[in-house]
Amino acid sequence: MSALTRRSLIAGGLPLLGARGALLHASKAGGHAGMQSHAGHDGGHANFRGGVAVDHAGNGFDPHEIVRDFDWGKTSRLPNGRVLREWELHALDHEIEIMPGVSFAAWTYNGRIPGPTLRAREGDRLRITFANGSDHPHTIHFHGVHPAEQDGVPGLGAGEIPPGGSTVYEFDALPAGLHLYHCHVRPLAEHIAKGLYGAFIIDPADAREEADELVMVMNGFDTNFDRANEVYAANTIGFAYMDRPITVRLGDLVRVYLVNVLEYDLINSFHLHGNLFDYFPTGTGKTPSEHTDTVMLCQGQRGILEWRFAYPGKYMFHAHQSEFTELGWQGFFEVA
Ligand code: CU
Ligand code: CU
Repeated sequence: MSALTRRSLIAGGLPLLGARGALLHASKAGGHAGMQSHAGHDGGHANFRGGVAVDHAGNGFDPHEIVRDFDWGKTSRLPNGRVLREWELHALDHEIEIMPGVSFAAWTYNGRIPGPTLRAREGDRLRITFANGSDHPHTIHFHGVHPAEQDGVPGLGAGEIPPGGSTVYEFDALPAGLHLYHCHVRPLAEHIAKGLYGAFIIDPADAREEADELVMVMNGFDTNFDRANEVYAANTIGFAYMDRPITVRLGDLVRVYLVNVLEYDLINSFHLHGNLFDYFPTGTGKTPSEHTDTVMLCQGQRGILEWRFAYPGKYMFHAHQSEFTELGWQGFFEVA
């Protein structure tokens, strides 16, 4: 089994669910008997899952909460009247169940993947206290405009923060748009793929239109150390939004802050069923670049999607790489 890869299994035409069950079995000896016993059923993931769900409480976070959780920080005013927002981020080693029965030895910010979705308004002052409670050195590298010493890379400013160490990153919220943050310690692929990343939203001074806002960080997990992902998702837990769709209201403006941090695959994508959306790359402009139903993103690319559902019902969203879809990156919107 160890000689098999995810791709050879799928390419070899094995029944998908059998392939997935076998892979996950290989990734963690024992503990997957339930998956194996469901492997021969047809079609849907529900058969494979056997009705067993991830223990979100055990993980300490739930993707259904993360999808609408925006952290504006502790807010105060500086003497000059500007808004100061403060956060505390802790790097923590933390085991996470990414699919039923599949645990992943993650590195996290604040115990969750993705880390908190940090949100500010253009021009706010931002102060992020970073404490490293992990067994490895880490940083926080923010995308956006800031001085070099605040860039969170080794050898600049505070550089690598050792286990037990801490530092403060402070800079202005610029420019308006959808950004991200992640660890920048080498080997970079591992430090990102282990879970040290999150979305970082800067609202424009003239606020966007009121909307039902969602954040989706597209990610994946290499459970057997072969530098390929066995599980794909938006917001970490494979199939989470298939089991429990994201409910939205008919006619409401839906806005998705979409970030791709997927490691080991060159490209990822988001595809919406039954509708098309306006796409604002990096969220830095107010004129959409495209009206489409599919966007493709490299690692670090992100954008804002906006649309309204015209009909009630259930609409899928997923990566348009079928392989990613079948390994967890798919979900439903339920429109009522
Ligand atoms: Cu790191
Ligand atoms: Cu980056």
